[in-house]
Amino acid sequence: MIVLGIETSCDETAAAIVTDAREIRADVVLSQLDDHTPYGGVVPEIAARAHLEHLDGLIRRAMSEAGIGFGDLDAVAATGGPGLIGGVIVGVMTAKAIAAARGLPFVAVNHLEGHALTARLTDNVAFPYLLLLVSGGHCQLLAVEGVGRYRRLGTTIDDAVGEAFDKTAKLLGLGYPGGPLVEKAAARATDPARFELPRPMLGRPGCDFSFSGLKTAVRRHVEELGGMAGGVLSDADRDDLAAAFQATVAEVLADRCARAIRRFKEDHPQGGALVVAGGVAANKAIRSRLSTLAETHRMPFVAPPLRLCTDNAAMIAWAGIERFRMGESDPLNFAPRPRWPLDPNAAPVIGRAGVGAGVKA
Ligand code: KG4
Ligand code: ZN
Repeated sequence: MIVLGIETSCDETAAAIVTDAREIRADVVLSQLDDHTPYGGVVPEIAARAHLEHLDGLIRRAMSEAGIGFGDLDAVAATGGPGLIGGVIVGVMTAKAIAAARGLPFVAVNHLEGHALTARLTDNVAFPYLLLLVSGGHCQLLAVEGVGRYRRLGTTIDDAVGEAFDKTAKLLGLGYPGGPLVEKAAARATDPARFELPRPMLGRPGCDFSFSGLKTAVRRHVEELGGMAGGVLSDADRDDLAAAFQATVAEVLADRCARAIRRFKEDHPQGGALVVAGGVAANKAIRSRLSTLAETHRMPFVAPPLRLCTDNAAMIAWAGIERFRMGESDPLNFAPRPRWPLDPNAAPVIGRAGVGAGVKA
């Protein structure tokens, strides 16, 4: 089976060709970084227009790299949500057009399911497994029991972890996108133990996360160090703070994962792997902390290669294959979904600003 995957839910335009033999025949990603950098974050309208401009060309490139034509495809999969709705519409409409013109099945993929199932594409991981999904818009712990079968064990009550990286980068004057820049600054730190930051939720019952207090603590340090109101942090201050932030996030994630592992093992005594996915999984300090944790609990640890952690279309094609193999596809009147939880039965989270408000679950 050969499937074309399309990803347009945020600021990466991507197309990929993947087979059911877990072979990535082509995987092209166009980052819109330069379009959004002047604004310090993703501008949805600019993103949607850029997807529209580039998607056709990227699909053509992916097909040519894979050495196939539309006649060789067995299905077309596109991210159907959650994400920035303008971009999702561009990807879904393109996929539907190809499906209609070629008489192919169309599969609308949940972007989060794409991240969640990547470890099966790269490492053939068996169900069930415990997944830490950490991206720009999400921070969740999920028991993955099958395709489409997710049980949420924990989620953030305020910011997503990638968002915390991005906001911290801004506070430190590192620019956008924050995650990789914070990681680089942390690697340059000369005194990484200099700043002590609060460890939100550490040791608390349950598996939920909170990152907004951590961000506030970074802001306070930046203020004290004269880095606000037009001031500039020294390189040493900036790098040491970045290191403190990254180490704290790694520790909090490991603490929450440790609790989730206990719950996962109660439900699945036969065990399973600890899998990390999403853009923040590209962070080497976090990967290494989680790898140690998994070893302690005698669980295999799986983290996809860096380029398959951040947004890409290979994961969308693969999730499309997994769904299609189960006999699932979507009608051409599928409506893009700006919100699309993986576990619809999970209780709503109570955010600080009230039920669900601003919560990145
Ligand atoms: O999964 P992703 O590419 O897009 C979303 O679906 O959100 O994740 C993007 C997020 C951004 O917040 C980015 O700052 C973060 O992942 N990220 C990182 C790293 N690379 C990307 N965070 C920490 N360290 C990194 N190396
Ligand atoms: Zn993503």
